[in-house]
Amino acid sequence: MSKDIFSEFNLNGHVLRNRLGVAPMTRMSSVADSIPRPDVLDFLVRRAENGAALVFTEAIVTDYESAQGYPGQARLLTQRQIDAWKPVTAAIRHHGAVSVLQMFHCGRMAWPEINPAGRSIAPSALTPQQDNPLTGKPYPVPDTISLFDIDHVINGFVETARGAMAAGFDGVEIHGAHGYLISQFLSTYANQRTDGYGGSLENRFRLAHDIIAAVRPVVPRERLLTFRISNWGVADPDVSLFETREEWQSLMKLLADEPLDAISVSTYDFKAPGFGTDQTIAALTRAVTDLPLMICGKIHDRPTAQAALEHADIVLAAKSFLLNPNFVSDVREGRELPLHRSTEANVAYTEAPLI
Ligand SMILES: Cc1cc2nc3c(=O)[nH]c(=O)nc-3n(C[C@H](O)[C@H](O)[C@H](O)COP(=O)(O)O)c2cc1C
Repeated sequence: MSKDIFSEFNLNGHVLRNRLGVAPMTRMSSVADSIPRPDVLDFLVRRAENGAALVFTEAIVTDYESAQGYPGQARLLTQRQIDAWKPVTAAIRHHGAVSVLQMFHCGRMAWPEINPAGRSIAPSALTPQQDNPLTGKPYPVPDTISLFDIDHVINGFVETARGAMAAGFDGVEIHGAHGYLISQFLSTYANQRTDGYGGSLENRFRLAHDIIAAVRPVVPRERLLTFRISNWGVADPDVSLFETREEWQSLMKLLADEPLDAISVSTYDFKAPGFGTDQTIAALTRAVTDLPLMICGKIHDRPTAQAALEHADIVLAAKSFLLNPNFVSDVREGRELPLHRSTEANVAYTEAPLI
């Protein structure tokens, strides 16, 4: 029997008032200074005001060189950027929710027009399967990341985490999902290196480990450090990034040995069985770790939220929070709620303020 979606959960000392969180959502609204539009920041505060227990930011780019993957993404590396986020974290806290900033490097998903370095970097010189939907062109072949680049990448995560702490976030998340840089390292699909960062799962995990090890000291133990992971990539949607249940579970064990406060598993559909088994990816994950677990993917009403909690502690929703400001109260009242289509989420990238 699952715990109730409206029961509290103690996430490393942060008492969540319920199990519903706003999943990270890129909005591409920063026109200058890598600072999101005021209405985009207000959107996050309003979701806290309306009952979400946990609010993730959009994916924040970790450097001014090669990390950016989409136009108008935000950064948190300068005092001006920190000052823009301070009132947001204070307001989210005032409304009783916990704020977590997601940190992101896009790796081979960069493209010259928006990438300050004019080059993209990845574990190996391989492009994703699909063309870039924003340019209509193939992604450029990335440079094979050097050890110098790796240090620079790690430093970007550290500096961004410092920025997040200064801005008052309750925590940071390392984006290891969806086919971006860390995810590219984790899977043999994009990582064909023969040095200490490729080959065995332990080697492919090394960048994630190095980033966690470097970031944890700047995130005090009473704040949160979470890691997001998926078996799919946005430009490789049909590829299973990990081959077997054993590989997935070994990876989860490696994560569980790290100083993390939670693992966030991102799926297309939380109900879908994973790796040819009859179990969901959440169940396969829960079987090997007691770390707090977040699950996401097609959770859109009370029955799905409740069902998703069977093998997780927190459920995250993206499109339902994006399109419905009253999502939490609607779930509480058990209203019949739609499962939104991906195309409906395009409003995220328009200039029309969301309610
Ligand atoms: C507009 C939009 C932007 C997104 N941006 C991010 C992001 O920045 N980081 C991330 O980890 N996931 C991102 N996602 C994926 C969501 O967090 C979530 O995993 C996915 O939408 C499935 O959840 P849902 O079925 O509740 O929409 C985005 C999704 C949408 C719709």
